[in-house]
Amino acid sequence: MQNIVAGNWKMNLNKSEALGLVNQLKTQLNENPIHCELVICPSFPWIALLAQELQNSPIQLGAQNCAAQVSGAYTGEVSASMLASAGVSYVIIGHSERRGLFGDTDAVILEKCKRALEANLKVILCCGESLAERDAGNAIEIVYSQLRAVIENCAKLNADNLVIAYEPVWAIGTGRTASPEQAEEIHDAIRALLCAHFGAETGNAIRLQYGGSCNASNAAGLFAKANINGGLIGGASLKAEDFLSIARAC
Ligand code: PGA
Repeated sequence: MQNIVAGNWKMNLNKSEALGLVNQLKTQLNENPIHCELVICPSFPWIALLAQELQNSPIQLGAQNCAAQVSGAYTGEVSASMLASAGVSYVIIGHSERRGLFGDTDAVILEKCKRALEANLKVILCCGESLAERDAGNAIEIVYSQLRAVIENCAKLNADNLVIAYEPVWAIGTGRTASPEQAEEIHDAIRALLCAHFGAETGNAIRLQYGGSCNASNAAGLFAKANINGGLIGGASLKAEDFLSIARAC
């Protein structure tokens, strides 16, 4: 299995900043290649531009969201097939900021996953509990219900088109990372769920990312765990050196 590190730029970087970051990444990768799969997820306006910049580069392009609908009168939305035609390979679906701030329910997330797969995009499906849910002892139950809502209703999923990102909400953008042991406990549980649902061969081949205040100093400890196969990186993906040192730890 090839580990996968993805940068979620969120709503950051204007055009020249986005181009500058991509050029730094390309230069540094030319000098010193890495072995994991590397994905960047910029904002929509830069996707087509960066697709050109990334031709002949090992970096793949992802989007941070897609519409739940195929096409039509949905002002402000961006469809999965538009993304695919612009050169996108991956789409992040179900990020906790989408769930919490924009009302993406499990049902909406399922529809978005279906649209992504119909457009031959690969899905980075996010899950994770809040601090209150963890403190109440419900972390695994919450993660299971978020994942079941999709995997039990989306027959097209497989180890090639599905990556799961476990992102405890209390660790996102807070500087408070899950310890490798806390993360691995949930990753082990996710692996068990996937093996029970897809069978061992597929279940063991689906890559599981950790996300939430992952940085250059804590990445190696997290990635050393057997069921942590990469990271979904927010803040630390906005600086080429930080992002690549996380990728090198993978
Ligand atoms: P963070 O964000 O690395 O800034 O905590 C991770 C994410 O939300 O994907």
